[in-house]
Amino acid sequence: MGWEQALRLWRSPVAADSTSARVAAERRAQMSVVRAVSLCMASGKGGTGKSIVTASLADEFGARGRTLIVDADMGVGNAHILQNTAPERSFVDVVAHRCSVAQARTVCTPTIDLVGGGSGVSQMSALNARDVARIAHGLGEVESEYDYVLVDSAAGISDQTVSFAAACDAVLIVTTPDVTAMTDAYAFIKVLHARRAELVPWLVVNRISSDDGPEHDAQHVSERISRVCEKFLALRPVMLGAIPDDRAVPRSVAQRRSVVQAAPHSNAAAALTALAREVAVRLSGVPRGGVGRRLARGLEAAE
Ligand SMILES: Nc1ncnc2c1ncn2[C@@H]1O[C@H](COP(=O)(O)OP(=O)(O)OP(=O)(O)O)[C@@H](O)[C@H]1O
Ligand SMILES: [Mg+2]
Repeated sequence: MGWEQALRLWRSPVAADSTSARVAAERRAQMSVVRAVSLCMASGKGGTGKSIVTASLADEFGARGRTLIVDADMGVGNAHILQNTAPERSFVDVVAHRCSVAQARTVCTPTIDLVGGGSGVSQMSALNARDVARIAHGLGEVESEYDYVLVDSAAGISDQTVSFAAACDAVLIVTTPDVTAMTDAYAFIKVLHARRAELVPWLVVNRISSDDGPEHDAQHVSERISRVCEKFLALRPVMLGAIPDDRAVPRSVAQRRSVVQAAPHSNAAAALTALAREVAVRLSGVPRGGVGRRLARGLEAAE
């Protein structure tokens, strides 16, 4: 299904007349006003630290500009927990036509907003083209209000999950030294590469522990993933940093806050702050394509 077709589908059950055609054109024009630069946290395997990285980056970026967190873990989203908020609305309401993406936003701080993924709604993990078109359009409408859009992705390599990552300007793969996490990180990079070959993913290795031997060394982990990527995809991910395994992380989760906020002097917070700086510098040089627009284009490509 093409974007035009999807747009018509969710807009109105009646055939497009000249008024609706004009509205559609105006909406397309609105979507072309992109301001935010977007970054997706992705992993393949679950539980690698996507949400804790997203929360700390949001705090760091929120100090620099307006930041929107998009919880793309549809149906089982929990990005709101680390913002200590309880969203009244989420993508579930957007898909159910109860509100727009703009109306589904929750204010977390004066500079950070969030669109929740919704909780306990299984059908959200397999949205149809019409639902994705509605979300794409809604994101396209709001992203010009922000400097940063941070997408906290779901685990796995489903079409839907990869579509959100492929729609972003940059993708940060969050892995751990576990062999299963590294394998799934590669699997994610492979399917992402099939969608957007020009996108070179960034990499952060989480839960590094010096007690666990050289296999757990961040550079070693990064090299292993990079070697496979180079061999099979002719692509080398860019290593951006490492985060130590640190008790401060689960403690901050229990407090429903980011590590940089709850334990600013911890080793994990120092690493996350350094990562945020590195990411910010790199994002400043990344061309902005618009999450909404790219998600919509993805629908066209899948037609
Ligand atoms: N650096 C770390 N040190 C110690 N514990 C950590 C660290 N990073 C993550 N954890 C633990 O792992 C848990 C999972 O992290 P997080 O929720 O960020 O993963 P995720 O990738 O978002 O998971 P999901 O795929 O389920 O969305 C955290 O609640 C925390 O307990
Ligand atoms: Mg998560």
